Amino acid sequence: MRRQPAHRSVLIFGGAGFIGSNWASYVLSNSDAPVHIYDNLSRPGSEHNLRWLQQQEAGMNRLRITIADVRDRVRVRQAVRSATEIYHFAAQVAVTTSLEDPRTDFEVNAGGTFNILEAARGMHTPPFLLFTSTNKVYGHIGNSRELRKVGVASAAHLVNESQPLDFYSPYGCSKGTADQYVHDYARIYGLPSVVFRMSCIAGPRQFGNEDQGWVAHFVYSAMQDNVISIYGDGTQVRDVLAVGDLVGGSSVQCRRRSR
Ligand SMILES: NC(=O)c1ccc[n+]([C@@H]2O[C@H](COP(=O)([O-])OP(=O)(O)OC[C@H]3O[C@@H](n4cnc5c(N)ncnc54)[C@H](O)[C@@H]3O)[C@@H](O)[C@H]2O)c1
Repeated sequence: MRRQPAHRSVLIFGGAGFIGSNWASYVLSNSDAPVHIYDNLSRPGSEHNLRWLQQQEAGMNRLRITIADVRDRVRVRQAVRSATEIYHFAAQVAVTTSLEDPRTDFEVNAGGTFNILEAARGMHTPPFLLFTSTNKVYGHIGNSRELRKVGVASAAHLVNESQPLDFYSPYGCSKGTADQYVHDYARIYGLPSVVFRMSCIAGPRQFGNEDQGWVAHFVYSAMQDNVISIYGDGTQVRDVLAVGDLVGGSSVQCRRRSR
């Protein structure tokens, strides 16, 4: 059995983003573990999340911040070296951007994840890794007409984990590649890991815009009396999960792994 390290050391790639900052806040409030955030602050608004976390942890001396890119494998290796748990949320997150610049999307999402896996593989005691993948790995997700036809209320009834993978969009391909690499590193190298294939997450600290984070974008737009454009035929269906519930799910996984 894998020996558990005596002390936790939590590394969060993309820790200044929406999900990452909520998770960092949870770890800071609910444990004594030191938290290392690694983020290049490319997401507009992420600097606000970082300031919020710094205020929250003021005086505790448990928050370390590295402003760097996941494509930088030397910096990634340095960060991973002292981690016992890694939460990987750093990504190019917009399908639209992936269509305009698929190469960068691939280098960040697939290449960045590969850098983290390689760094973790080289460690004497491999750290636990939680990776957030996407429902885009399941291809077509259904619309309200299809839901009505089969008499179910949620897209989760149409798409389940046994459905064959069918990567959709450059973003779906880059995240799906990363997802499969994580699975394979678990299988081949015994890296303890969990992959979440999430639909839409919503909640505080999300700087949603038209390209990504539609729930926040709709709310901000409505509050400012801005017009909301609905693309496609308007029948698309997405399940929404509150970020607090995702954080709860992450903490269950992390407790299971550290038993
Ligand atoms: N929010 C959702 O609805 C949702 C749904 C499915 C999957 N996901 C996945 O969850 C993860 C987190 O999403 P989020 O909503 O918190 O996004 P986010 O944009 O708020 O957070 C991502 C963070 O990663 C950082 N980042 C981006 N590129 C980087 C790079 N090259 N190097 C270092 N840092 C970089 C950004 O600055 C940002 O702080 C992503 O992997 C995303 O694909 C999110």
